[in-house]
Amino acid sequence: MFWKGLFAGTVGTEAPAGVAEHEVLITEWTTPKGERLPIYFSTTREIDVYALEALCDAVGWAKRPLRKVRKALACSFLVGSLWLEKQPQRRLIGFARATSDHAFNATIWDVVIHPEFQGKGLGKALMRQMIRELRQQEISNITLFADPHVVSFYEELGFHADPEGIKGMFWYPS
Ligand SMILES: CC(C)(COP(=O)(O)OP(=O)(O)OC[C@H]1O[C@@H](n2cnc3c(N)ncnc32)[C@H](O)[C@@H]1OP(=O)(O)O)[C@@H](O)C(=O)NCCC(=O)NCCS
Repeated sequence: MFWKGLFAGTVGTEAPAGVAEHEVLITEWTTPKGERLPIYFSTTREIDVYALEALCDAVGWAKRPLRKVRKALACSFLVGSLWLEKQPQRRLIGFARATSDHAFNATIWDVVIHPEFQGKGLGKALMRQMIRELRQQEISNITLFADPHVVSFYEELGFHADPEGIKGMFWYPS
């Protein structure tokens, strides 16, 4: 089956007491000064659109009108974020969101890890948490649009390009 194998193994452990229910400890991050700081995944923390756009800017994405970013967040089915915790501060270092029909289908958008934190497994952990959350909501069909250079990243997570010959099709205003 198409989705078989997507959920082999879970990532992280449940958050300890005092941390919101939807927050999952992903890993501990060692800073250049040798401090060990936790990184949490959350689906409930409020996203500051300025911090989000700074994150997207850090990977070279085009700027978007903040009014539309706020609307996209408010209308998303699932908003997942990764946070580096250094009490009393927390830093947004990863983000993904999904839109959905709330029954069968969800599409994941805006997957991003800050360049300082890339290549250490956090992108995969973020995606696995997104998939886990969507599966918990009984969504069985998860899709996304992959830039050509990240196809293998998504394939390693169990996504298939053009399954059974299906093609994504786009309409743009001419
Ligand atoms: C793509 C992205 C989210 C991956 O996050 P990450 O934390 O660097 O990825 P991870 O460390 O979890 O996993 C990297 C794995 O994916 C593979 N990979 C394939 N293409 C990759 C790419 N373009 N960038 C990073 N990893 C890539 C790596 O080889 C690695 O495999 P391995 O675990 O077998 O060694 C991150 O690089 C990013 O934010 N890129 C800029 C924004 C972007 O392109 N987003 C996707 C839009 S569709």
